[in-house]
Amino acid sequence: MNKKRILSGIQPTGIAHIGNYVGAIKNWVSLTERYDCLFFIADLHAMTIEYEPSAYFEGILTTARTLIACGLTPDRCTLFAQSHVPGHTDLAWIFNCLTPLGDLERMTQFKDKADQHRENINAGLLTYPALMAADILLYKAEVVPVGDDQVQHLELTRRTARRFNNRFGDTFPEPMWELSITPRILGTDGQAKMSKSLNNYIGILEPAETIWEKLRTAATDPQRIRKKDPGDPDLCNLFTIHKSFTPPELLPQIARQCRGAEIGCIECKKMLHENMMKELGPIQERAAALEKKPDEVLEVLKTGAQRCEKIAAGVMDEVRKKTGLR
Ligand code: TRP
Repeated sequence: MNKKRILSGIQPTGIAHIGNYVGAIKNWVSLTERYDCLFFIADLHAMTIEYEPSAYFEGILTTARTLIACGLTPDRCTLFAQSHVPGHTDLAWIFNCLTPLGDLERMTQFKDKADQHRENINAGLLTYPALMAADILLYKAEVVPVGDDQVQHLELTRRTARRFNNRFGDTFPEPMWELSITPRILGTDGQAKMSKSLNNYIGILEPAETIWEKLRTAATDPQRIRKKDPGDPDLCNLFTIHKSFTPPELLPQIARQCRGAEIGCIECKKMLHENMMKELGPIQERAAALEKKPDEVLEVLKTGAQRCEKIAAGVMDEVRKKTGLR
């Protein structure tokens, strides 16, 4: 039984929101049925941005708890923290020595983040993609589910694999990215992509009342000016969110009622809230139970790292021999 190996990572920003959930986590859970899945918390990548050390570890634990509660349980996949497996940084160094500076400087994410964090343009921000290539190739992963903002990094990963193979002999497969099929969810402002830093998010673990308050005041179809005007679900971010939480057979009816002004935005939002809580409620209960058992969460991460170390040791052995370190 040789299943294809899938790998992906998420940064430990602490609060995962429903954009992360429908765009990544939910997809990851379904991939566990067909693939050998490695999922990790990118705690080294997140250090490239200014952060608060005293809250960092708690953020890693919260992220782990959330992922497990969403269904990424140890019986389904290998969940671990990047910094627990030293092979990531070992291999990243070797990749640093293979990556032309110009390639790194051209990355849009580097340019964007350098713009946003002018007071802290550190070398890690620049070499971020070399570490990401190491994350993936350390396990010879073949498929990497990511958002479209990460495609450029995956292209660089493929070039890195090719460069290594040309220079040192055939070693790494060139991994393919797999884009999530869910449409991108905008924030509650209906303007920008949902994100923690823009404070336009709905957190997976937020109480039902808070989620309702955010939905109630969330922007809908921008053309729907007066209450009685019919709306256009195709233009409405809330309807996009419906598609991820409401049973598909109910969607045409909601769209029709919205277009015909048979239901108002508030009714539509109430239905969405109900369906959302049907899915998020059990996740929140599992997360709350895990919060009382931090040792169990740490144990999951530890077991995950142990399995990864075994795979990584074999690959690093091969890499050290081929590069001449041994
Ligand atoms: N850069 C990714 C992001 O910000 C996170 C990440 C780090 C990742 N290493 C990875 C994703 C390896 C996939 C594979 O979303």
